Amino acid sequence: MKKTKSEATAKASVPARLLEWYTDYQRDLPWRRNPTPYRVWLSEIMLQQTRVETVIPYFERFLERFPTLESLASAREEEVLALWSGLGYYRRARSLLRGAQTVVEEYGGELPSEWKDVLAIPGIGPYTAAAILSIAFGKPHPVVDGNVERVVARIFRISGDVKKSATRKRFQGILEEWIPPDRPSDFNQAMMELGATVCSPTSPKCDACPVRDTCDARVEGDIDRYPVLPAKRETVGVELEAGILCRGERFLLEKATGTAFLDGLWLFPFVDRSEKSDISSTLASKLGVDIEAGGKLPSVSHSITFRRIKIEPRWLEAESVDLRGKKSFRWAKLEELGDTIPVSSLCLKIAEKIREATR
Ligand code: ADE
Repeated sequence: MKKTKSEATAKASVPARLLEWYTDYQRDLPWRRNPTPYRVWLSEIMLQQTRVETVIPYFERFLERFPTLESLASAREEEVLALWSGLGYYRRARSLLRGAQTVVEEYGGELPSEWKDVLAIPGIGPYTAAAILSIAFGKPHPVVDGNVERVVARIFRISGDVKKSATRKRFQGILEEWIPPDRPSDFNQAMMELGATVCSPTSPKCDACPVRDTCDARVEGDIDRYPVLPAKRETVGVELEAGILCRGERFLLEKATGTAFLDGLWLFPFVDRSEKSDISSTLASKLGVDIEAGGKLPSVSHSITFRRIKIEPRWLEAESVDLRGKKSFRWAKLEELGDTIPVSSLCLKIAEKIREATR
């Protein structure tokens, strides 16, 4: 029986054109120089949900502090989180640490190069496994991230929801046929690069695209219909009140534990306004001292995943605060935040308001 031509074969010129384009136009990014398994792993974890320009300084700082997988594996979680401060999605940092510990314990510090072994490491899912195996080991595993989905969905006018398993299988099938066995790293990075720099979500630069004449959506003039994305989770407004209590140059921080967001990070003590509590009385009962509320600082807005947070900081005054036995509280200088103390951007934004108010 005659085998029907696959959809990937019908556009068989795509990989070669893409590779030629990538050779000329790829960005010079730190992890592309010397792509060791550890550097590729770290960069790919940082790049999930975060833009390249934001990641670069974090990547370099992280490697200065933890130049090898072994050095990372023996780190304290607090220090890893401190280096991650402001990058968001802190669970990534925790599972990276856990993954590094696993690689040291089970593989003597060398990342394995077999699909099932890599995938079994904490924090490494199919996307990261394919990125590490292709970029660091030269193995032909296609990566499928949001950028790649967008490029492929437009080239073929794929109208299925990109998160549905049937659509994912179709992407995977096309890419497995396309990925050249001799240049899997370049091919994968070229797909991601095209999605990031040319085939952008809105106003793609089709004139600069190496595959524009074989892109069905471009030819049909309906690029904005692809890819078909699942409905976004609705944003939820969260109103918080933070307390700013200072002792000399230091400020009181509380470690967020068991909270829905910011878990394990330090922040100025806060309460959720919807719980009808105020920060001065809540903190007074936690610390066992009298606390008086003072004036307000300008409020700060910050989004964490689907939460749109508005936080109102206000000055607090207390006679003498004794933190002995209170492990979830500490005093800190503003310059320690995000340096040696793990915090989120939300905390850094409040710190900036304090600096402005006290200059
Ligand atoms: N986004 C995530 N990883 C990438 C890579 N290796 N190259 C380009 N963009 C990326």
